[in-house]
Amino acid sequence: MKHFLDIADWTSEDLGQMLELATTLKTEWQQDGNPAVLKQKALAMVFQKPSLRTRMSFEMGMQHLGGHAIYLSPAEIGLGKRESIADVARVLSGYVDIIMARTFDHEHVLELARWSAVPVINGLTDYNHPCQAMADLLTIYENYGRLEGLRMAYLGDSNNVTTSLLMGAAQFGVKMTIGSPEGYQPEEQVLDKARKLAHNAFSVEVTSDPQAAVEGVDVVYTDTWTSMGQEEEAEKRRQVFPPFQVNSDLLRHAADHAIVLHCLPAHRGEEITDEVADGPQSRLFPQAENRLHAQKAILVTLLDAMPKAKKGKGGKGDKKDKKDKKGKK
Ligand code: CP
Ligand code: NVA
Repeated sequence: MKHFLDIADWTSEDLGQMLELATTLKTEWQQDGNPAVLKQKALAMVFQKPSLRTRMSFEMGMQHLGGHAIYLSPAEIGLGKRESIADVARVLSGYVDIIMARTFDHEHVLELARWSAVPVINGLTDYNHPCQAMADLLTIYENYGRLEGLRMAYLGDSNNVTTSLLMGAAQFGVKMTIGSPEGYQPEEQVLDKARKLAHNAFSVEVTSDPQAAVEGVDVVYTDTWTSMGQEEEAEKRRQVFPPFQVNSDLLRHAADHAIVLHCLPAHRGEEITDEVADGPQSRLFPQAENRLHAQKAILVTLLDAMPKAKKGKGGKGDKKDKKDKKGKK
């Protein structure tokens, strides 16, 4: 049984197959709708932080595939407070086929996975956001028809989104430049982890010069300066990050064909201006929609529910889970 906790836990081949599956599921959904490959499957969604995209895309994804999703709010479970994480994992495993969790502490998702008898998906922790990275890669791929060798700049706070984007870039040979102020740059161990995963063209540079970061790049990416859980630092961060705002002046330094991404929610007027977010280079809303398609591919892969046409292609998606799949249902 495999969990989806970190882009680094999967091979680039597996991830490539998931992106291919996401594309197939997207086309299928746009044409006749998806087949009910997750019929009678249930997903528990454990949230310790707010969400629009993650909650909606998982819930609609399960519905499109014939399954069912149940939202569990922070107040309901009291993960690790009302009940231990190990007990929550074992109880949920008796009811559902798969669990998605959004927590503060990354260790809490790992602990859930340790005790769960069903696959666990990381729906964002303070450390990373792997589902987001899959949607991001899908969006970039749709625009350029390739990933390998593209150049992407991430501007702003080196946070959970940056970590997963970096791992995704490493897996697919995207050259990354991270433009962040000193004190907000990625930790050396995150950079090392990405370098160890590196495929072909991948490289990573970190700079505190926002213009240098975006010079000639194909993709400009930004995220909030203050992530969930850091609210008390918001004022201090507002003093530090303005030079890293993605605005039309900064965007002029990227390639003319560059696209702009943001995982959302956006703080317009802070990390991104309206002009850019709503401008011709913005792909913010196709990117948000792609959360749905990427998530479906993750669910189908973890539940080994690949549509028949996709099986037997010799991909790892075919083999995984077979030997240690729990005999549920
Ligand atoms: N990008 C993202 O994860 O959005 P939500 O926090 O709304 O789920
Ligand atoms: N870095 C942001 C991402 C939100 C999807 C946060 O953690 O709040």
